[in-house]
Amino acid sequence: MDSTKHRFFAPCPRGLEGALEQELHELGVPATAKTEGGVAFQAPWSSMCWVNLKSRIASRVLWEVGQASYRSEEDVYRAAAALPWPDWFAPSQTIKVKVSAKRCPLPSLDFVTLRIKDAVCDKFVSTNRRRPSVDTRHPHIRLDAFLDPERVTFYLDTSGEPLFKRGHRIGAVEAPLRENLAAGLLRLSGWTPDEVLLDPMCGSGTIPLEAALMARKIAPGLSRSFAFERLLIHDAKLWGRLREAARLKQLAEVPAAIHASDRDPAMVKIAQRTFQGAGVAVDIRLRQSDVLELDAPAEQGVMLLNPPYGVRLSQADELGSFYPRLGDRLKQRFASWRVYIFTGDARVPKLIGLTPSKRIPLFNGPIECRLYEFKIVRGSARQGRLHAEGA
Ligand SMILES: C[S@@+](CC[C@H](N)C(=O)[O-])C[C@H]1O[C@@H](n2cnc3c(N)ncnc32)[C@H](O)[C@@H]1O
Repeated sequence: MDSTKHRFFAPCPRGLEGALEQELHELGVPATAKTEGGVAFQAPWSSMCWVNLKSRIASRVLWEVGQASYRSEEDVYRAAAALPWPDWFAPSQTIKVKVSAKRCPLPSLDFVTLRIKDAVCDKFVSTNRRRPSVDTRHPHIRLDAFLDPERVTFYLDTSGEPLFKRGHRIGAVEAPLRENLAAGLLRLSGWTPDEVLLDPMCGSGTIPLEAALMARKIAPGLSRSFAFERLLIHDAKLWGRLREAARLKQLAEVPAAIHASDRDPAMVKIAQRTFQGAGVAVDIRLRQSDVLELDAPAEQGVMLLNPPYGVRLSQADELGSFYPRLGDRLKQRFASWRVYIFTGDARVPKLIGLTPSKRIPLFNGPIECRLYEFKIVRGSARQGRLHAEGA
């Protein structure tokens, strides 16, 4: 197997960099460096394929193909034109160039994007007379460039569609969590598959679905394809072996129950169809219920929920009366449970009347959020009541 090490960068939702780094170590990639928004790593080609197939937290895996210092757009053009693009893909494949930057002194990133595209196409014309065309919507090959104040780094995107697109979603739903954020929340909660899990506001079911895939050790990328499969250096035999190895690790059933519910029957239907499509419907006990009427399905367990945020005023008012009732319900019916609430609403700890033992900052896209941990414990006999305690 190829042991040459390449440099890669895996972006992820902000706040999950530590969780992604830990996951990469578990996937057999020890050489990692965490930065804001992702983790850089060095690994052989086969590890890149494995990470694409198995990572639940990365958004993509970018292959670093070159780096140079620059002062002008022409420096960027020359650096891009020096790279052996025709070794990596064919001119019949369509391309898209995406440029991002931090404190870049050049006035127009659009112009930089254009010059990189020109450099790539000129390189093809000079070597095989044909040039790739641009497709900004469904390109075969995505090229990324990142400019800091002095250096430009070029990447080929090995994932294609972002990795949170597992291929299980059916139709569009309002405000679903991204799959890699849901997987990251499960990891941050410390939930392990031998603990009972409950998502009582499951919406389209992203959290329980990710949990079921984790519990059955189903690789998240088994139902989709990846951009690296279109690169000229792709090794189809190696890829076949990796997919087979991932499949062999799958378990036939989940070790502990996964429960999901939502008060909206339409969401329950969507979740049910999604679970069926992903082959995990038997692993998730799904029902329609208001969380305020739920009893604990086991003596102990982990509850992870993602309530609406109250962006609209009426919703904010409604949530103002919802949280105190949720807090009461947890104290009455969920003693011994660990409860995790993922929300962008900073009023939650106050409204719910419980002291969080952890508050982990995260981003859901551009929205700053927190994952709050509440340990619901039985109060002393003398007090004769239940309360939540900080760790
Ligand atoms: C932000 S969405 C959850 C999205 C979900 N995590 C997903 O990925 O699709 C919040 C969900 O809470 C549900 N909900 C609101 N109030 C509820 C209540 N009192 N009991 C149960 N579910 C409720 C809504 O129907 C909605 O599906």
